[in-house]
Amino acid sequence: MRTMRTILAVIISSMLSFMASATETITSPNSNVITPAPSRIVVGDGMLDASRSLNLYIEGDLATDDLRRLSAAAADCGIDLRVAKRLPRKDYLRLSLDSQAELGAEGYALRINEQGVAIAASNPAGLYYGLQSLKAYIAHSLQLPYVYIEDAPRFEYRGILVDISRHFRTKEFLMRQIDVMAGLKMNRLHLHLTDAAGWRIEVESYPELTRYAAWRKPATWKEWWYGDRGHVWEGTDGAYGGYLTKQDARDIVAYAADRYITVIPEIEMPGHSDEVLATYPELRCTQLPERQGDLCVGKEATFEMMQAILGEIIEIFPSEYIHIGGDEASKGSWTECDDCRRRMQEEGLESVDELQSYMIHRIEAWLNERGRQIIGWDEILEGGLAPNATVMSWRGEEGGLAAAAAGHNVVMSPHGYCYIDAPQDAPYSQPESIGGYLPLEKVYSYDPAPATMSEDVARYILGVQANLWAEFIVTDEHYEHMLWPRAIAIAEIGWSAPENRNYDLFRERAVKIVDRMIEAGYSPFDLKNEIGNRPESKQPIEHLARGKKVEYLYPSRYYAPKYAAAWDATLTDGLRGTWTYADERWQGFLGRGGVDVIIDMEEVTTIHSIAADFMQICGPGVFMPCLVEIAVSVDGQNYTKIADIEHEVIVDELPSFKNFGWQGEVEARYIRYKAHRSSFSGFLFVDEIVVN
Ligand code: ACM
Ligand code: ZN
Repeated sequence: MRTMRTILAVIISSMLSFMASATETITSPNSNVITPAPSRIVVGDGMLDASRSLNLYIEGDLATDDLRRLSAAAADCGIDLRVAKRLPRKDYLRLSLDSQAELGAEGYALRINEQGVAIAASNPAGLYYGLQSLKAYIAHSLQLPYVYIEDAPRFEYRGILVDISRHFRTKEFLMRQIDVMAGLKMNRLHLHLTDAAGWRIEVESYPELTRYAAWRKPATWKEWWYGDRGHVWEGTDGAYGGYLTKQDARDIVAYAADRYITVIPEIEMPGHSDEVLATYPELRCTQLPERQGDLCVGKEATFEMMQAILGEIIEIFPSEYIHIGGDEASKGSWTECDDCRRRMQEEGLESVDELQSYMIHRIEAWLNERGRQIIGWDEILEGGLAPNATVMSWRGEEGGLAAAAAGHNVVMSPHGYCYIDAPQDAPYSQPESIGGYLPLEKVYSYDPAPATMSEDVARYILGVQANLWAEFIVTDEHYEHMLWPRAIAIAEIGWSAPENRNYDLFRERAVKIVDRMIEAGYSPFDLKNEIGNRPESKQPIEHLARGKKVEYLYPSRYYAPKYAAAWDATLTDGLRGTWTYADERWQGFLGRGGVDVIIDMEEVTTIHSIAADFMQICGPGVFMPCLVEIAVSVDGQNYTKIADIEHEVIVDELPSFKNFGWQGEVEARYIRYKAHRSSFSGFLFVDEIVVN
């Protein structure tokens, strides 16, 4: 029998001779097939016919589990396979584990030529990923092009967060998503297991968490949130909910591990813990009647509980990283609580931020002693970051950049690019959601470590994650619709080097993946039917008032700074709003008054129309005006009203857009445009005031 070394010498020399005769290209018809886009593809001349069976030969020092995983993955490629005891001369599918292969922990080399298919990697995960690339070719055609591919991920962390708290999802559902992730070479599934709306993992030491906190009366988060936000006992008539048993969780972990995916459990603390306090009210800071969602950091019982829970969690989940949440604690009850005040005094803590930090430090130390690392949302920076913590940056990138600059590992998941709970297409065409607009192309445009980032910071960026929160996502079909194809873009961002990324090529592949998913019974968003951005926003608009000065009358000059867009230039800058008010094109007005502005046309002008668009999206509190008045003046002193447009504001689920304007003929220099807010308290959002 030949030694490993000679086998490798043969592989390498045959690869080199093959490469020498090949032309390097990524434009061959068969080359835009693999997602995420590989690092390097050399396409040769010829085709291997994979419609006849291939002989599977696996070599190298593989553990039994890996041998089983790789055999299963090979069998799943879509070709007829026979298992060979010796390396056949031809028609082989050869997997070689080669500790010398210099392709990194997850990289692989894939060669297809007249003899067969050969995949080499230094780790089993690399062989698995090589098989995923082969599977992509096979799904495209059984005539496999001769190629040599060298491929390795840009980032070590390529993840998806699945929220099973707001609406429960079963083990089977999670496994179906894991199948898709695996094909995309994603390697982290972050399970958001606990939140106010439901506790979703069995804990033997605190069994009421699943007997009570996992159940509620309303099936939808929305009814529950706008109702009493209560829970009911398991078995109550009509109770909605569910949880993963320990066995379910172990099954998911094993299923994911078989696909080289690590499952990261998230146990939220100290915030987002309303359901825990509803179940164990003795752990509330105070017994005051108002709702409390933050665990009491003063009481030792809180730590006993969290450590008992985490003790059970780490028995189920082998992941090095354990996510401890850390986001959005209101910290309000802590200042009212004797125990929290005592803790602050004893520990010399000067703020509630430091009190949260105290808890995260303690939990980190406890997990570190057990060989685990914590990961938490970027709020864990507040009050001082725990020494070994990894930060998941969601409120933007600032938290992640600060953590990386301080030498902490970071996973980037900024909401502007990675929060795929926003609609992905024209909101009127999409199910109700949290709002915003995040199309595939915008997700794809994200770079977690752009060239402008200093190397000292970039080295701490572990990777990227898509987060799919489920407040508005009741059904499995809807969940898949939101997840795919945008998570495919996250897979490519996480894997492919910037120079290998190209949106048009990516989109072609994504359309095909979506088609295949639909055939397989998934319900992704059908990318072929994408409508795209708001038509009005696609081109700047020329009109008579463009660039003219706008005076904001009191109190409308206090438009919301967060939604200032281009400040005083916004309403005449020629740029109209997209599907989302957070696009720095719509201008937002909150509080008293409404919109009340005067445009100075600079000279007396013949005007035939004056109009502006408003948007409404009731969830976040954005409403249409109830009245728009338009008046004009020649001298800036005496105004003549030319329009009085009344509107009945009706609450609805989907975002809507409405134009409020006047048409006619008038001579004027000054235009006063005034929009009154309705009795609904919230924002008015207006874009360009178009004058013709
Ligand atoms: C988060 O979205 N609150 C992490
Ligand atoms: Zn307290």
